[in-house]
Amino acid sequence: MRFSLISISVFFLVLSCKQGPKTSDEEVPEPIAQTTPKVVDGKVLMENQCYLCHNPSAAQNGQRIGPPMVAVKAHYLESYQEREAFVNAIMAFVKSPSEDKTQMRGAVRRFGLMPAQQFPENEVRKIAEYMFDYQIEEPEWFKSHWMDRKGDSLYNRGKKPETSQAETGAKELGMHYAMETKKVLGKNLMGTIQNEGVEAALAFCNERAYPLTDSMSTNFHARIKRVSDKPRNPNNQANDIELAHIETFKAQVSAGNSVEPILREENGKVFFYYPIVTNTMCLNCHGVPEQHITPKVYESLSQLYPQDRATGYGPDEVRGIWSIVFDAPKKMD
Ligand code: HEC
Ligand code: HEC
Repeated sequence: MRFSLISISVFFLVLSCKQGPKTSDEEVPEPIAQTTPKVVDGKVLMENQCYLCHNPSAAQNGQRIGPPMVAVKAHYLESYQEREAFVNAIMAFVKSPSEDKTQMRGAVRRFGLMPAQQFPENEVRKIAEYMFDYQIEEPEWFKSHWMDRKGDSLYNRGKKPETSQAETGAKELGMHYAMETKKVLGKNLMGTIQNEGVEAALAFCNERAYPLTDSMSTNFHARIKRVSDKPRNPNNQANDIELAHIETFKAQVSAGNSVEPILREENGKVFFYYPIVTNTMCLNCHGVPEQHITPKVYESLSQLYPQDRATGYGPDEVRGIWSIVFDAPKKMD
């Protein structure tokens, strides 16, 4: 029975439904501004610019598209023990990747040469300095993999990364906005499904949820959006930056790793991203037609959203992300 799904998913109910209306202030921001050279900058820059391919969370043999960053660090530390030499070597490679500069023949063989991309030099410097100065996140398998081959346990040496209070504050605020909005929308959606069924809930999502999201935005003085790589409502199409973060989250979620929000601060604004993951309840409207979605619901969906791309999901998949922008909390340092 379709409705038995609902009771077991009550606790996992994430919101769904509609987004606030589109506004024009959603220009894709320029990649990271030059802010003060603080620790968190190098870390955040690395996560934003390099984790698309160097993510520590992607499975070892799965859909990895590049070596985890700790592998890069380990190989470069082997050849360059001095900070400046290490940083320069990384910068030189990123500036123009080539086979004669490689320290990682195996990776080149497996993944192909790193594609040349335009990264601002001062940002790559910060990333490389961060990699040298701090322990960076590494996948569980890496240690034994490296130790078996090299027997050197200092491959990820450095200070333990500290998070600044401002960063912690921003992260908590972003999570608060996302979870409160999810609660409000989820409560209404769930109530409608329980009392009136999936079709009525669909009408609710289509017509009534966005004023709620909107009022949450007003309430928090934040711009709260849900966006997707496969949107139902074309207004919820993710932009390039958001698409990259969706890929990062997908890799983390499918590897079963814990997921942290991604934050970027720029001109006094915090850009906050966090995944929205499916549970079985969502499949009533986002699952496989026939198998999860009744023909009647599917028909209404096709009428309301002729360009619907948001079907075919299973449970525990990244359906989209929260993309929230708000004023940075005051720095405490
Ligand atoms: C589009 C995917 C992609 C992105 C984004 C990316 N890399 Fe890479 N990178 C790769 C691949 C694939 C390899 C392995 C092949 C190779 O070594 O060229 C690699 C290897 C490297 C290496 C080792 C090169 C060698 O062979 O000695 C360094 C250093 C590096 N990346 C730095 C970075 C930094 C820093 C960033 C972020 C600013 C970054 N990469 C972003 C794909 C990427
Ligand atoms: C009753 C049907 C229904 C259920 C159940 C449902 N959704 Fe949706 N969902 C919709 C509709 C309709 C939209 C499009 C709303 C709009 O027009 O903005 C949508 C949109 C979304 C969006 C915005 C991106 C997009 O595709 O437009 C996300 C993210 C989302 N749903 C996630 C979920 C998750 C996660 C669940 C389960 C917790 C879920 N939904 C359950 C009907 C549903």
